[in-house]
Amino acid sequence: MSSMNDSSPLSIDRARMPELLQLACDEAVRFLNGLDERPVNRNLPQGAPPRLPRHGLGASEALALLTQTYEAGITGSAGPRYFGFVTGGSTPAAIMGDWLTTAYDQNASDTSSSAAAQIEASAVDMLRELLGLPELFDGRFVSGATMSNFVGLAIARQWWGKQHGANVAVSGLAGLPKPVVLSGSPHSCIYKSLAMLGMGRASMQLLPTLPDREAVDVSALEQALREQAGQPCIVVANAGVVNTVDFDDIAAIVALKRKFDFYLHVDAAFGGFAACSPTYRHLLDGWEEADSIAVDAHKWLNVPYDSAVQLTRHIDLQAEVFQNIAAAYLGAPNTADALHLTPENSRRLRALPAWLSLVAYGADGYRDIVEASCACAALLGERIAASSQFRLLAPVRMNVVSFTLQQPHPSGEQVREFLDRLRASGKAFLTPTMFKNTPGMRAAFSNWRTTPGDVDIAWRAMVEAAPLGRPQGPGPYKLRRYTQ
Ligand SMILES: Cc1ncc(COP(=O)(O)O)c(C=O)c1O
Repeated sequence: MSSMNDSSPLSIDRARMPELLQLACDEAVRFLNGLDERPVNRNLPQGAPPRLPRHGLGASEALALLTQTYEAGITGSAGPRYFGFVTGGSTPAAIMGDWLTTAYDQNASDTSSSAAAQIEASAVDMLRELLGLPELFDGRFVSGATMSNFVGLAIARQWWGKQHGANVAVSGLAGLPKPVVLSGSPHSCIYKSLAMLGMGRASMQLLPTLPDREAVDVSALEQALREQAGQPCIVVANAGVVNTVDFDDIAAIVALKRKFDFYLHVDAAFGGFAACSPTYRHLLDGWEEADSIAVDAHKWLNVPYDSAVQLTRHIDLQAEVFQNIAAAYLGAPNTADALHLTPENSRRLRALPAWLSLVAYGADGYRDIVEASCACAALLGERIAASSQFRLLAPVRMNVVSFTLQQPHPSGEQVREFLDRLRASGKAFLTPTMFKNTPGMRAAFSNWRTTPGDVDIAWRAMVEAAPLGRPQGPGPYKLRRYTQ
């Protein structure tokens, strides 16, 4: 076994810690200062990856190798014109919090050994307050909205089992009827969660949506609930569908709880931030009656990946699912400990970036971020509505613009070609979608850095990348010359 000696890279690095952290800070500052101009699309490095050195290089040489090998392939996805998926940036305070999470390196799994759990509880409280939810909601940080939905549906499964007199966390699903999950426009991660939970993707019963909308048709939901003939089921309401930011009428869904026995989970991954603004808050009316809610933090809260919060009024059921009691070395179980409430056992202090950012910018700061994103989306929407090259696929409700090429029947290939040309410009990044069988694309705004000036830059690049006029068939298209 080799021992660490004074000339080992690790011993040398230990003595150089401040200098090394300064190097990392310099690299981060250089990156962040160039973020506004960094292309959103980079060519991925093609060379062979570095091999494991026998004798380590030391941290400064390792950093040099990293930047030399990969830096050119790091995209500006944290920057102001990356409109793909729903991609947040990182506020200055959130970046500070993330660095300190690493430096402190706390295991945020239990409440007794460090203030880590208190910081997490405080962040959850502040987020709950920002979202205007009552105190009876409790929850923990998880890695993203997928895991947040997973935890919500795990609680739902436990509730559903209880309605059948079973403890699914103990006995599993065997012998129980097939669970039924009802939803209008569930995100793909809901299916993934159902698969992971052993309920099966096929337990999802997809309901019709309103005409030209992605919001569930509540009368169809009522009918589906009636067809359950008194059997309990699970409803997933959507607060901000990823395509068009449509919202289910949650208040109307909640009203059905008076007639039918169901568990209500709300996927509010980014739409939950409507609560930050008086202009949009009404879209969430009724969500305070939900059984569980999923909210992402690495989207509109603008903290770095990976971060989300799950909230529930059934923390006791959550503990029944996730309790981790069978290990003597972990001591007596305390169900306030995150290791008894989340899928993980050991976990980083993921809440710290959110804590610092919430305190640094407050409710007003987040209202401003949300409203600025929506204003940029509205601006792009106006340009599209007035354009001869594009048309909107749906009204711009909040922060996402869903649109397509102007021709009556754009093909998926034409959309892809447009998006490829746009990405190649490096000026803006959009992702494709499909809305009511029409291929199109989405521009999602959720980065605190984005300004109307960025919309201008993106718009010019879009116009240049778009086919001119109304082409009769697929490309090749003439490109307009783009001069800044
Ligand atoms: C409504 C909704 N739910 C869930 C997710 C999944 O989020 P994540 O990628 O953080 O797991 C997304 C991602 O865009 C989303 O928009």
